[in-house]
Amino acid sequence: MKKLIVANWKMNGSKEFIEDFFDSIRRASLSLPMENEYVICPPSPYFSQVASLLAPLNKEKKSFFLGAQDCHPEASGAYTGDVSAPMLKDLGCQYVIVGHSERRRIEHGHQESDALVKRKAEVALRSGLTPIICVGETLEERDRGETIQRLISQISGSLPASDQEVVLAYEPIWAIGTGKVPSSDQIREVHAALRKHLDSLGLSQCRLLYGGSVTQDNAHDIMTIPNVDGLLIGGASLKSKELVQIWRNTK
Ligand code: PGA
Repeated sequence: MKKLIVANWKMNGSKEFIEDFFDSIRRASLSLPMENEYVICPPSPYFSQVASLLAPLNKEKKSFFLGAQDCHPEASGAYTGDVSAPMLKDLGCQYVIVGHSERRRIEHGHQESDALVKRKAEVALRSGLTPIICVGETLEERDRGETIQRLISQISGSLPASDQEVVLAYEPIWAIGTGKVPSSDQIREVHAALRKHLDSLGLSQCRLLYGGSVTQDNAHDIMTIPNVDGLLIGGASLKSKELVQIWRNTK
């Protein structure tokens, strides 16, 4: 199973930022472990710029992919301001994040339910994209000892029944953008439970990512935890030097 390292830029970046970012990525890319796969998810207005800068990095071996941060549950129609999965595919995306907690949340989010996330994952699969489906517990749920139960309920509600490839990302909500990272034991416990659950669903090939305050200092340790098949990185993925360091640390 190839490790998958996903950079989620969220609503950040500019044309100039992207030029500078790829200047340093280009210099570093030759020394990266090519057995891994790297995905960059910029905001949708920058897909074509990022796609054209990723293409030369893939000349020798294809390991860099373009990803999106969301898609609409319908393939087309009268949905002002939205972007569909077939459009993402058309623009060169291979992956799409769905059900990120910043979209699931009520305040300043989009109040996305498990059922909506599932429809997004389904349209992504129909469009030839691999969905990266996010699940995670709040701190209150963790404190009440409900973490695994909560995650399994999110998985039941948001994973499509399909034999096509899907990726699952475990992102504790309290770890996103906070600098608070679960202990290795906590990640080990959750990933072991989720792996067992995925196996019971016949999804033993589904890669299981960890996300939430990943940095160049903790990436290596997190990646050595059993059943961690990759990372979903927010803030640290906006610093090209740090991202390259994370890529190097995840051999
Ligand atoms: P973070 O974000 O790395 O900034 O915590 C992770 C994510 O939201 O995917």
